[in-house]
Amino acid sequence: MTALRRAAAAGGAPAGDPRRLTLERLYKVYVSRGESLLAVRDVSLKIEPGEFVTFLGPSGCGKSTVLNMLAGLESITDGSAHQGGRPITGVNTDVGYITQDDNLLPWRTLLDNVAFPLELRGVGKGERRERAHELLRSVGLAGFESAYPHELSGGMRKRGSIARTLLVDEPVILMDEPFGPLDAQTRLLLQDELLRLWSGSGKTIVFVTHDLVEAIALSDRIVIFTSTPGTIKSIHTIDIPRPRDVFHIYETDRFTELFDLLWAELREEITKARARH
Ligand SMILES: Nc1ncnc2c1ncn2[C@@H]1O[C@H](COP(=O)(O)OP(=O)(O)O)[C@@H](O)[C@H]1O
Ligand SMILES: [Mg+2]
Repeated sequence: MTALRRAAAAGGAPAGDPRRLTLERLYKVYVSRGESLLAVRDVSLKIEPGEFVTFLGPSGCGKSTVLNMLAGLESITDGSAHQGGRPITGVNTDVGYITQDDNLLPWRTLLDNVAFPLELRGVGKGERRERAHELLRSVGLAGFESAYPHELSGGMRKRGSIARTLLVDEPVILMDEPFGPLDAQTRLLLQDELLRLWSGSGKTIVFVTHDLVEAIALSDRIVIFTSTPGTIKSIHTIDIPRPRDVFHIYETDRFTELFDLLWAELREEITKARARH
């Protein structure tokens, strides 16, 4: 029996499933101008295929650093990170990465921006435009295909950048405070859309936010980081059933319980981080 069949027979996803992330004793030391800074300390975590996992912690605790190591944009100082059975050593093309900036190219229309990753992969013009059209429709941007980024609102640009990442169909999506600069209403709409697009996609999402309400509304599990040097303080399963209503979730008793529990932990770390500055 092959490893794949064995795992399937056992009911679990195979160890080599590219949607699985395994972080083992990860460390990151930055060296700049002769000074070294320990940014991430001894982070071990297993993320299962299709899971929505959120990193929460005070500013500067190393959340973006961990995502950058998973994307292969920062080297790993010590320890290891694997995607499926493969160690992450260089730039990792098996993840989609949505950063706080939307990174749309100002000289390209929305359609050509969304289709850009397919262009890089050599997909023909007809096919990439067709697929970009379809995805823009699904994120509510039909009719804006020929607009340039400066003609769109912040929320629309963000939806465009999410569509662009989803189009290339990577098994893992990393999202670093993607809704950070948006107003509260737009955030809720995008959270709702994100859950809709993710549900049934089977993709793994690793999400970073400093908004506890957003973290509870979206996640299967929340990982709380300590203040710098960041390590994992605690991991919490969010047992609120899906599909979730992000507009009303905060009115439920379970939400309030989880919020109080997590806020107590988070506040401790935020207070420690503040005492340092
Ligand atoms: N390229 C870099 N060079 C030196 N120090 C860095 C670099 N990137 C981040 N840091 C430092 O590492 C720590 C963690 O940063 P970061 O991962 O951005 O935190 P977070 O995303 O949790 O706010 C911070 O002290 C930050 O100043
Ligand atoms: Mg960050």
